[in-house]
Amino acid sequence: MNIIDIIEKKKNKLKLSKEEIEYFVNEYTKGNIPDYQAAALIMAIFLNKMCDEETSNLTLAMAFSGTTLDLSDIDGVKVDKHSTGGVGDKISLIITPIVASFGIPVAKMSGRGLGFTGGTIDKLESIEGFKTSMKIDEFKDKVKKHGMVIAGQTEALAPADKKIYALRDVTATVDDISLIASSIMSKKIASGADAIVLDIKVGNGAFMKTIEDGEKLATTMVNIGKKLGRTTICVLSNMDEPLGNGIGNIIEVREVIDVLKGNGPEDLVEVALTISSLMIYLGKKASSIEEGKELALKSIKDGSAYNKFREWIVSQGGNIDVIDNIETYKVAKNICEYVSKEEGYISSINAEGIGKIAMSLGAGRETKESEIDPSVGIIFSKKVSDYVKVGDVICTIHHNDYKDMESIYHRLDESIKISKQYKTKDELIYRIIK
Ligand code: URA
Repeated sequence: MNIIDIIEKKKNKLKLSKEEIEYFVNEYTKGNIPDYQAAALIMAIFLNKMCDEETSNLTLAMAFSGTTLDLSDIDGVKVDKHSTGGVGDKISLIITPIVASFGIPVAKMSGRGLGFTGGTIDKLESIEGFKTSMKIDEFKDKVKKHGMVIAGQTEALAPADKKIYALRDVTATVDDISLIASSIMSKKIASGADAIVLDIKVGNGAFMKTIEDGEKLATTMVNIGKKLGRTTICVLSNMDEPLGNGIGNIIEVREVIDVLKGNGPEDLVEVALTISSLMIYLGKKASSIEEGKELALKSIKDGSAYNKFREWIVSQGGNIDVIDNIETYKVAKNICEYVSKEEGYISSINAEGIGKIAMSLGAGRETKESEIDPSVGIIFSKKVSDYVKVGDVICTIHHNDYKDMESIYHRLDESIKISKQYKTKDELIYRIIK
């Protein structure tokens, strides 16, 4: 087999065989195909698309490109969760202790921030001492002892996805349904979950911009799950405005603690309860999704979710004093207010624009080598459909001597729109697809 023939075939819009896909994945993972040829093939796939069969074959080839995790010696239904990525999306940090508080094992591999979207691993690492890198034995040990773990993607599991993802990130080929579906499902299959809940973000702050594309991605992933005997449920949730009030790493950890203590913002609580309810249902601790939601809420109200969160932070080496004194931990040097220049209703807060502003302040990476500043970000005190008068604070900007604040204010002007007409809140959960 020859990589040039495979590129040629996709360039001519032809279907790739299982063997051709496996050849590409295995040889690229081993380093026998250079990046420029892999990039040419990925771009041909992006432009000319893959059918369902090719997508399943790509998923399987990537899932089995390294070791696969066997969790069968851990009791219970192992339920995993993955988000397609958004702005202010700290859901994994909330649902992990909620679900684990019911004895449902959560063994999760997560990623770092990508582009304007934040990453679970970066948020967790903003807590002093918290360790996200570990060997597979330690990973399993933590699930056995504490019922939950979140670690960064290891070299061993689905290494092909790691390489192909990095290539897509720098060749503008991330937002393709087949490539996203195979990337996410290969990791989930390799990490041994019995059941999977996928949070597909839809909107201007997500890779899927329309509900229609979100549905296509959901159906593709549910079908891959079915073929492999892994029950998969997808939630399509709104990502037109940032989720919750805070964007930025330690800022988001603070908000997670608020939610687990019963004080979180409504939109964030709603999405967290929806995802938790599905995981509790799939983990067979509730007989319906509705019951799962009641249980999730109860675990917040009676403190069991927060207690489990504290146990989790300690189990991965995090400093518990930080959690207990989170209000004063890693606070940025400068906190500036962004106030309304008009009177009216907030009609939109562009999540992508806000994600990019947070990234410029240092909350995300502009290049692969950039260092994250965990303390910086943005906190909203008003969201879409809220009424504001001239001079009302819409958000605060948390930064460390950022040089060009003028441009930040200008970009906020562009991202936040105010109208005289009342703007109803958009739906938060568009669909649940099984
Ligand atoms: N998250 C992933 O893991 N992969 C993608 O391709 C997109 C989001």
